[in-house]
Amino acid sequence: MPVIPGFLDRLAFRANLAPVAILDVHGAASLHAVALADDLGVFAALDGPRTLADLAAALACEEDTLRRLLDTLVAVGYVDRSGDEYWRTRTTTRWLTDDGDANLAPFARFWVEVVLPYWREHAERAVREGEPGESLYDWLGDDEAAWATTQAGFRAAASLLVDPVADALGDVDGARVLDLGGGHGAYAVELARRGASVTLVDRSPALEPAREAAADADVDVTFVGGDYLSEDLWRRVAEHDARSGSRPSSDIDGTDSGGSDPDGADSAGGDDANAGYDLVLLFNVLHGHAPAEAATLLEYAAAVLAPGGRLAILDQFGRGGRSSVADVGVALIDLTYLITLGGGTLDPDMVNRWLGDAGLSTVGTETFRRAPGVKLLRVELPYADRE
Ligand SMILES: C[S@@+](CC[C@H](N)C(=O)[O-])C[C@H]1O[C@@H](n2cnc3c(N)ncnc32)[C@H](O)[C@@H]1O
Repeated sequence: MPVIPGFLDRLAFRANLAPVAILDVHGAASLHAVALADDLGVFAALDGPRTLADLAAALACEEDTLRRLLDTLVAVGYVDRSGDEYWRTRTTTRWLTDDGDANLAPFARFWVEVVLPYWREHAERAVREGEPGESLYDWLGDDEAAWATTQAGFRAAASLLVDPVADALGDVDGARVLDLGGGHGAYAVELARRGASVTLVDRSPALEPAREAAADADVDVTFVGGDYLSEDLWRRVAEHDARSGSRPSSDIDGTDSGGSDPDGADSAGGDDANAGYDLVLLFNVLHGHAPAEAATLLEYAAAVLAPGGRLAILDQFGRGGRSSVADVGVALIDLTYLITLGGGTLDPDMVNRWLGDAGLSTVGTETFRRAPGVKLLRVELPYADRE
């Protein structure tokens, strides 16, 4: 747990008698300690009191050096200690292990291994010029191991919301769902579990974790690898859709290709009465795109809707502020989107303009207690266009 200053500490910081920035250094070091502890298997192994000697033998560590990591984890509140025995705290069980509510340890590892190294190379340019030169996703390239770390991080963050978001989408049994930028596959797998036929689109090297998730859950999901801003990808999605009706069961290979052409979506959906998607998900993708790209993506997505179909947009809105933990979190997310993608958190007026230009309008909005600033927009074509 990040160090929460006590009363006297707070007085000293308020009076500017102590360098408050040291807390940020502590936070950064603590993040690395959490990722390291998770790598070593410390949290999983401490599901009950264990002596240092026992734990060191189980984790193949030197006792003296493991003690120093454990004592650091005690200092920051993730582990408790009595004499020579250590065990994880309730906070750790709930938020950093698979035995709790949501395991955020992979999110910590994603920050340490992917975001921060990328940040060091690209942040200055992103702030000077408005974009980082290459997006985080381009930087990951074909590195499947780095993609696995990235998708595990995204999945960990998503695990806080998958159930409430799936509930908010309503009954999807028998629905045809297209998950654009579906990444780790947690949403696709959950909707497939609830009876939907799901097609997940993402960059080809990014897909393996989602394939594994679908196999582990024993559900059918169709995977389409490629760039959702390319005409070629939408042609393949439309061909598959017209061929398969409502039974996805395949893997559509493809290479990422550049370019964007909204006209290419004209053929999407075809003339087949069964073609088209009942629900198209745009979950945490719009924040990474410049306005012209976001508008193109919405046009493509609108063009593949079945009659009466809808889009669902889940994303981070707002710019954050100074006071609460939530406000600070939103501000940091906005900066991170700028640095990693040249993007930013979304502005509701801007999104409504994009939707209007694509002939769409929002019919409902949900917010989530666990994720300040995150909104789920339910979006439909106006009634006349749906006939
Ligand atoms: C932040 S993740 C969101 C994952 C998931 N939808 C969620 O809400 O947790 C964004 C995903 O979009 C994918 N993506 C970004 N740009 C893309 C593009 N041009 N074509 C296909 N996928 C893309 C990324 O690879 C990544 O998996």
